[in-house]
Amino acid sequence: MTPRPCISRLCRPCRRVAGLAGLGLAALPVLAQSWAQSALDPAGPQARQLAVLSWWMFGIAAAVLAGVTLLVLWAVLRGRRGAQDRPLGTRRGLWVVVGGGVLLPLVSAIALLGASLAVGRETSGPGPGGALVVEVTGHRWWWEAHYLDPQGLRVATVANELHVPVGRPVRVLLKSEDVIHSFWAPNLQGKTDMVPGRTNVAWFQAEREGTWRGQCAEFCGLQHAMMAFLIVAEPPARFEAWLQRQAQPAAEPADALARQGRQLFESRACVMCHAVRGTVAAGQVAPDLTHLASRRTLAAGRLPNNRGSLAAWIVDPQQVKPGTTMPPTRLSGDELHALLHYLEGLR
Ligand code: CUA
Repeated sequence: MTPRPCISRLCRPCRRVAGLAGLGLAALPVLAQSWAQSALDPAGPQARQLAVLSWWMFGIAAAVLAGVTLLVLWAVLRGRRGAQDRPLGTRRGLWVVVGGGVLLPLVSAIALLGASLAVGRETSGPGPGGALVVEVTGHRWWWEAHYLDPQGLRVATVANELHVPVGRPVRVLLKSEDVIHSFWAPNLQGKTDMVPGRTNVAWFQAEREGTWRGQCAEFCGLQHAMMAFLIVAEPPARFEAWLQRQAQPAAEPADALARQGRQLFESRACVMCHAVRGTVAAGQVAPDLTHLASRRTLAAGRLPNNRGSLAAWIVDPQQVKPGTTMPPTRLSGDELHALLHYLEGLR
């Protein structure tokens, strides 16, 4: 009789579980490739150190799981063959208890703790000089960002989309206006909490061009899952041009329809919350809209920034993002058309 392969001695459910686990393991390297929001696709030194640490932790945990599974299988198969038990009181039994139950877990826990602390210190320390400083404030449920000059003065205000130059360290000062949020762009850095009343600091550096998605990582209410942002890393010259544009006041309306749109914007409740620099709108509790049309998304990553999304957001924001503090705006078709035309000109 030909000997049966080891796995065929398992019961059917066990074989299925083993098959699924094998498939999952085989798919991991594929899944790690090029995600716009993935700690497994690091785009900077801080994220890379975290990714290496994660893979080590995963590897050690997988080895422990495999070892324990093999030992259990061995014990079961041995038991079926009617082998004699060895009481734990013997020397060999004692070695199993002390070695497997105390020494091995203790050594691996201490090693992993040491590695975690070392990586934590590496990724949170100040980078080389000449860092770009950005102050990011968490709101329910969007992100406000101020770019600071070397004197700490605000040069540009943006929302929900950060641009950074490739190769330059970025120092992010993290604050919150309401509850605890957490700033997390997994391709670039680990999570850092944003706590009301204090300023936390995170560092990251993008090594290559790209657009990565970040996400609030601390439950902060109804739309926590829809509190996203983008980090766009671009060559230094393109970044400087972007920053200069963002620092400018809003463009003047280009035609009569846009002028009508601006008049509508200034006469409605919009100005109570939003700012458009260069107009009477100076609200401070909602995103600055001075260069709204230059952004890729609306409502903190909830919608792509296009005419249809913008119309839906203005007319019925509660439908798009239930719980948001933005109220609906009643407009006729013509008025909405003019307002959209104006907002689309805010490049
Ligand atoms: Cu902000 Cu979750």
